[in-house]
This record gives sequence, C-alpha cells and structure tokens, in this order.
Amino acid sequence: MRIAIMGAMPEEIEPLVARLDEVEEVLYADNTFYLGKYRGKEIVVAYSKIGKVFAALTAATLIEKFECEMVLFTGVAGAISDDLHIGDLIVADGLCQHDLDITAFGHPYGYVPEGAVCIWADPDLREIAKKVAYDLKVEIKEGIIATGDQFVADPGRKQWIAETFKADALEMEGAAVAVVCHAFDVPFFVLRAISDSADMDASFDFDAFLKSSAKISADFIMAMVRKIDG
Ligand code: ADE
Repeated sequence: MRIAIMGAMPEEIEPLVARLDEVEEVLYADNTFYLGKYRGKEIVVAYSKIGKVFAALTAATLIEKFECEMVLFTGVAGAISDDLHIGDLIVADGLCQHDLDITAFGHPYGYVPEGAVCIWADPDLREIAKKVAYDLKVEIKEGIIATGDQFVADPGRKQWIAETFKADALEMEGAAVAVVCHAFDVPFFVLRAISDSADMDASFDFDAFLKSSAKISADFIMAMVRKIDG
C-alpha cells in the first residue's frame, strides 16, 4: 500500500520528510514529490502550496500519477470551537467549503449541484486516529472543518462559518482534498493542529505557532502510519 501524506506549506511536511528513508525527489506538475519509505511502508510526501486549487491538484497528482491508495493530510488550522487551543489536534469527521456560494439560485451555502455540503473522512482512518491518541495519551477532538480560500482573521466571519457549517476549525485545503479523494474513491484523513483562533490575533499567532503546531500534527500522522496495516 502506497500512502500519500500532504500538507500545504513546507513547515507542514518538513518533519515528515526528515523521517523518510531512501528519499527520492521527483519534480512533476510544478511541484516536488518526496518518495521514500517509513518503517518499510512506501510513502509519497508533498506540500501543495496554500489554497483549494493547489490542494486539489496535488491530491489528484498523488492519486493518479503516484498511485497512492490513501491520502493523509497534516497541517495547522484556525480554531472556531472554544474547546480548541493552540497546539490542540482536531480530526475532521466532515469537511465543507465555506466560500462556495450559489445561494442566489436557492442552494445552501457550500453546495453545488452533484456535490455535497459536507464530505466525510474515512471512518477506519478516524478509528485508527482514536487508537493512536489512546496509545500516545494525547487528546484529539473530532469535528467539522471548514475550508476556504481565505485566511480568516475576523471574529464576524469566524462566527458566520461556525453558525452556517457547525464547524469547529477552519483552514484552506482540507475540503479540496476531500472532494478529490471522494471522486477517486480513495480513503482520506485530515488532521490539523491549532495555530491561531481566526480572530484579530490570527496572523500574529499563525507566524508564532506555525512550526510548533505543524510538528505536533506531523508527529501524530507518523504514529498513524505505523499503525496502518499494509
Ligand atoms: N490555517 C491556520 N489558521 C488559519 C486561519 N485563521 N484561516 C485560514 N486558514 C488557517
């Protein structure tokens, strides 16, 4: 089984690449893919660059070109839920696009015909995450993650996303990966560690905590890879 692990930014994948053996760098579609092994398992790691379009391109490339059979996403997110603090982990049970809007035609926010407001992450991978959390004595929260091409640093926008999508955290790539994996029928999992609270302090906190929170998420993903069969 070949496993894809992706992030959006270099900081989100550096802790992963550092732990791969026999790393080979492949340039494709204006991106770098790191092919390697971890505990005997074949892994392909890449960061997509920020946003839904780049994330969709990278997820599709990992599946179609590199023949990965599962996609794990690791990175950081802005907290919506008051239960989430900097460094806390959130596992997406479902992902939606908070900036997708054809409400002018009577559709709900986040919906386009033949799509779905929310795409659900693979239940088996979410179960593995729970087992890993138990083993590592780490707390994880499960909830809806809202994705959009927007760095949210505004309490009003944050509240609107919370109310409209019942979301617990927000970021800029997860739902794009979900749409691609769902279309290709490839199991996927999205994990995020909180870097900020998507409010007035968000950009300051993001810069301060990107690296440390990204490492928390990446370390957990590597523990999951150790537990995944195959
Ligand atoms: N990723 C981490 N923090 C974020 C924020 N506040 N908005 C969008 N994406 C994020």
